[in-house]
Amino acid sequence: MRAAFYEAQGAAADVMQVGNLPDPQPGPGEVRVKVSVAGLCPGDMKFRTGFAGEPLAFPRIVPHQDGAGIIDRVGEGVDPNRVGQRVWVYMAQSGQPFGAAAEYLTLPAERAVPLPDSVSFETGATLGVNAITAHRCLFADGDIRGLRLLIQGGAGGVGLAAILLAKWAGAWVAATVSRKAQADVVAKAGADLIIYRYEDDIVERISGATDGEGVDRIIDVDLATNSETDVNCLAANGVVVAYATENPSAELRLPFLRSMFQSHVFRFVFYYSIPKAAFEQAIRDVTTCAEIGAYRPEIAKIFPLKEIIAAHEAVETGDALGKVLVSI
Ligand SMILES: NC(=O)c1ccc[n+]([C@@H]2O[C@H](COP(=O)([O-])OP(=O)(O)OC[C@H]3O[C@@H](n4cnc5c(N)ncnc54)[C@H](OP(=O)(O)O)[C@@H]3O)[C@@H](O)[C@H]2O)c1
Repeated sequence: MRAAFYEAQGAAADVMQVGNLPDPQPGPGEVRVKVSVAGLCPGDMKFRTGFAGEPLAFPRIVPHQDGAGIIDRVGEGVDPNRVGQRVWVYMAQSGQPFGAAAEYLTLPAERAVPLPDSVSFETGATLGVNAITAHRCLFADGDIRGLRLLIQGGAGGVGLAAILLAKWAGAWVAATVSRKAQADVVAKAGADLIIYRYEDDIVERISGATDGEGVDRIIDVDLATNSETDVNCLAANGVVVAYATENPSAELRLPFLRSMFQSHVFRFVFYYSIPKAAFEQAIRDVTTCAEIGAYRPEIAKIFPLKEIIAAHEAVETGDALGKVLVSI
């Protein structure tokens, strides 16, 4: 099969190859998916470069956790009626070396989720890391219907997913952006208030929109940088949820007394340690949301497999607005 792979950590241009690998066969409890589209996330880049100091997990890695395609074989113990089923996949390269950037992918059957006929493979390939992380950030502390939310970094992969899911769930959503093109996609996703983070006074805008009370929840792409702003935007008993940093040695400073007096809650979310029940609920919700057309991800560009280096670079420069996908 054709596949993209790397055998050392480093820049995509230095380590990524496209070539032929043996077709994988599904083991007991596994399905084999003929992949149509793979979805790229910054985390895939971090695995490739060893962002947190972790070594290469396997001697050869076919990247990408997210994707969509059709089951073409099943292993022992898996319902043979699943052959031919359209699916989206999650954690395709978690705990195993070969992920979604290949013609064929084998993985535990439960990680291949039936994809409703109304949902394209492209949308299916965006439902893993982004939508499930966003879902956990939004719902870990209960229902959000009628609540006021601030999404810091609203035009990012997770940020946009959070806006789409929050609107689906009946919340009021403010989002920060850095430029007009981001404001446009955030508006399209349904944000109620758009704040330019370099030009506007975020605290003032939030205060003005919430009668001075602040928002109930903040989902933040960079809490280490935004902590003071967030605390000043947060209502009493509000929750800040953090899911990212670009600095592996980042440390968090908080205005302690203000948060204590307001009974603020700080939560951290990591895709790979979301509790099982919450993960399963997220799978159900994001699939439903996609099926009814409420989950409409912004697709930045679809690269052919042979241009996977350019696809990785498009994610890393941050220039791509929306999801970068690779067509297999
Ligand atoms: N915890 C988890 O399980 C988990 C899951 C998924 C992703 N992540 C991490 O989350 C991060 C974002 O992923 P993504 O796919 O959403 O990436 P993305 O599509 O590149 O989006 C990042 C967004 O954040 C904005 N941003 C950057 N710094 C900001 C700041 N200080 N305040 C407000 N907005 C800011 C960027 O805007 P500009 O263009 O203006 O910089 C961009 O729109 C990555 O570090 C990724 O590894 C973590």
